[in-house]
Amino acid sequence: MQTATTLEVLRKAVAGLRQDRARVALVPTMGALHEGHLTLVREARRHADAVVVSIFVNPRQFGPNEDLDAYPRQLAADTALLENEGVELLWAPEVGAMYPAGFATNVSVTGVSERLCGAARPGHFDGVATVVCKLFNQVRPDVALFGEKDWQQLAVIRRMARDLDLTAPHADAIVGVATVREADGLALSSRNRYLTPEARTRAGALPRAMRRAIVALLAGADAGGTLTAMEAEIVAAGFASVDYADLADAATLAPLPALGPEPARLLVAARIGGTRLIDNMPVA
Ligand code: PAF
Repeated sequence: MQTATTLEVLRKAVAGLRQDRARVALVPTMGALHEGHLTLVREARRHADAVVVSIFVNPRQFGPNEDLDAYPRQLAADTALLENEGVELLWAPEVGAMYPAGFATNVSVTGVSERLCGAARPGHFDGVATVVCKLFNQVRPDVALFGEKDWQQLAVIRRMARDLDLTAPHADAIVGVATVREADGLALSSRNRYLTPEARTRAGALPRAMRRAIVALLAGADAGGTLTAMEAEIVAAGFASVDYADLADAATLAPLPALGPEPARLLVAARIGGTRLIDNMPVA
C-alpha cells in the first residue's frame, strides 16, 4: 500500500491506479478504524478495481466544545489494518495540506443538514460537506462509500453531489453501507470505546427500543406516542437523556407525522455516561 501525504503524491498515485481504466473507489474516514470501516473497504472492492482510503481528522467538523484533541489518532495501527485489507492507496494529509493558509471556502447544504445532529452541532455538516467535496476533487473517484450509521451525513453528501453536479463521483455512485452491529445490536462506532463496561451493557437497549418502535409503527401505532414510549424506554434503560428521537423522510430528513408512501427512517441520539450515541434504522 502506498501512502500519500501531499496532493502531488496523491495525484500521481491515483493516476497510476487509473492505468488500464481501472475504477477507483474512495472510502473517506477519520481513522481509529474498526470493523465498520473495514466493511466499507471490503464493499468498496466490490465496486472498483482499486481502493483509496483517506484518514483525516477534520477540524472543521468539530465544534469549539467538542473532542477534536481527544479524538483517537492511531495511524500506525490503521495503516496495518488497511495493508491487511489489500488497500492500494492511503491518503493521509496534514491539516496544513488540506487547509493551506488563506483557505476561505465553506460548502453549506441547507435543509437536510439543519435538524437532528445539525441542530445540536452547529457548523458540523458544513465541515463535513467542505472536506468531502475536497476529498472528492482530490481523488476524483468513480464511487465513494459511507456508512449508513451516519445517515444524516450520507443524506447531506448526496444532496451536495446532486446540487453541485459532481461527476467524480456522481451522486448515484455514493454508496451507503449498512451499519455493522455488535451481537446485542449496538452500532459500531469509534465513540463506543468511551463507554464504561456498565454503560456498554446498558447501551444495547437503544437498538432494542428502536426495533420495538419500528414494529409498533408498522403495525399502525401513532408516531408521536410511539416515539415518546421509545424515549421513555431508552431513559429507563440507563441513558441520561435523549437528544432527539425522530421519524423522518429517509432522503430529505423532513419530519414525518405518520408513515406514508416515501421511505421513512427512525433516527435517535442519546447520551449515556457522558457519551453521545447515534443510531438510525429503516422503518420497513
Ligand atoms: O464519517 C466520517 O468519518 C467523517 O465525517 C468523514 C466523512 C470522513 C468526513 O470527515
